[in-house]
Amino acid sequence: MNRTEYQKIMRGAGQLDYEIYLNTERLLACQKEPEDLCNPDELQFMIVHQVEELWMKLMATTLLDIDDEMAARNSFKVLTLFRRVHMCQEMMTTQLTLLETMSPKDYQEIRLRLGNGSGQESPGFRVLLKMPKDLWRTYTEVYLEGGERTLEQIYDSEYSHDDAYMIAEALAEFDEQFQKFRNAHMQLIYRSIGVAANSLKGRPVEILNEGMRQKFFPDLWQVRADMTDRWGGTYGKTRDKLTPKAVPKAAPKAAPKSDA
Ligand code: HEM
Repeated sequence: MNRTEYQKIMRGAGQLDYEIYLNTERLLACQKEPEDLCNPDELQFMIVHQVEELWMKLMATTLLDIDDEMAARNSFKVLTLFRRVHMCQEMMTTQLTLLETMSPKDYQEIRLRLGNGSGQESPGFRVLLKMPKDLWRTYTEVYLEGGERTLEQIYDSEYSHDDAYMIAEALAEFDEQFQKFRNAHMQLIYRSIGVAANSLKGRPVEILNEGMRQKFFPDLWQVRADMTDRWGGTYGKTRDKLTPKAVPKAAPKAAPKSDA
């Protein structure tokens, strides 16, 4: 195929309404020109990062809206917006695996071009790390009614699957999806540069383990652990084995009729 001709078509002319509205001219100029790529996989590497940065922008903007809607206790709206955020998170995790189609050698060539950059410098990731604190404050003011209600009531003694419960679960889902991203990202690191390698900042990649243990909303995880202790009663001790119920014997099959 004629590469130059097709690359020209890929860029478009930027004149049609679709191109003008979506600013495709600038968008498609955000990647290196073909002749500047160190290998074909570098385009994929840039695009995956750029797309993920856009999903994080959408998530962060949606979380701003969620905070406003929580403040007004528009719970149905909050749940719809959280669904959007969770879907972005799922896509972010799934899309990481695209980079597993890149060979370790191709990545080593790309890596030489990255200076000492780190994903910890990502504006999207940094803002997402900051927001949960504010979301939790709004949740406790509105749904825990400034301390009048407790998570124990919502999850256990007064459990009614109400909006306070549903929104708490949406926050827990956000937390869980964040961990899933971090876990998948760690697997990607192992796949690309190996276990116990050093980052471009010269730090062992195991520093990311700390983030993998981090919980944004520890109270939402603690409430379950407390329930397990309470409901378990003898938690920590060996339980009696279940005794299987006597299974009634199947009735003997009727003998097939003989045609004779
Ligand atoms: C081959 C692919 C990738 C490799 C080898 C890789 C490697 C790394 C390494 C070594 C670090 C730690 C850097 C440090 O010392 O500060 C890191 C952090 C990070 N990377 Fe990647 N990365 C890859 C792809 C991606 C992609 C596609 C994203 C998309 C957003 C991403 C987002 C991040 C983020 C957010 C952090 C900070 C994580 C945290 O603090 O928990 N990385 N990455």
